[in-house]
Amino acid sequence: MSEAPVLSARALSLVYGDGARRTTAVEALDLDVARGEFVGLVGPSGSGKSSLLFLLAGLRRPTTGRVLLLGRPLDAAPDRNAALRRRHVGFVFQEPFLVPWLSLRENALVHATGPGAAARVEDLARRVGVAHLLDERPHRVSGGERQRAGLLRALANDPDLVLADEPTAFLDHPTGHAVMDVLRACVGRAALVVVTHDPEMLAGAHRVLHLRDGRLEATTAAGSPPATAAGA
Ligand SMILES: Nc1ncnc2c1ncn2[C@@H]1O[C@H](COP(=O)(O)OP(=O)(O)OP(=O)(O)O)[C@@H](O)[C@H]1O
Ligand SMILES: [Mg+2]
Repeated sequence: MSEAPVLSARALSLVYGDGARRTTAVEALDLDVARGEFVGLVGPSGSGKSSLLFLLAGLRRPTTGRVLLLGRPLDAAPDRNAALRRRHVGFVFQEPFLVPWLSLRENALVHATGPGAAARVEDLARRVGVAHLLDERPHRVSGGERQRAGLLRALANDPDLVLADEPTAFLDHPTGHAVMDVLRACVGRAALVVVTHDPEMLAGAHRVLHLRDGRLEATTAAGSPPATAAGA
């Protein structure tokens, strides 16, 4: 296929702070992710995984470098990217950030852009076991159920790019696998990047990126031990 990558990042860096505590969370990183590709992202706590996802989603402005989403630059201020992001990017946050006074269904549909979103949310909720909770508010459900509501919100618009940050962290194994099945099912028409500390959740990934201190340390095929050669 000659189609441009869904996501393309070049020389991407993110430095937090400018005073006593200065952290380079992402450093000189290049990455292309194509439609139909499932990429895992692993690395120690603090290695920059969440920071990288925020950059790739256009939720943070990089210190240097640029991100192209569907060939369009995401390097403007995050509020200027909002329309593009909501339409094309689904983000499953490490903490789901649900609006407390809205039901799980309303939270899932808060940025819905098309007429198919409500039915899609119902269907996805059934597949991850929270259909009976859609009319509850977040404080009346468990942490794992809130996380699944965050998944519904991420997928409500059938995005071209799905970025998932520890989407199974609060879940038992069977539920984690149900969530991963739903995410993998997006891969046909979308690109998927999943951050996880659980290698089992990366079954079927086309490649796994290893981050250390904000740098891409190695890329491996799923299930194989880390190689020494770096690359994206
Ligand atoms: N808002 C922030 N301001 C300053 N430093 C930050 C901020 N967010 C993250 N950091 C720092 O940036 C580095 C990377 O953090 P990040 O959250 O991206 O790591 P991570 O790989 O997602 O870790 P974890 O597996 O624990 O979620 C860490 O050193 C962290 O302390
Ligand atoms: Mg993180």
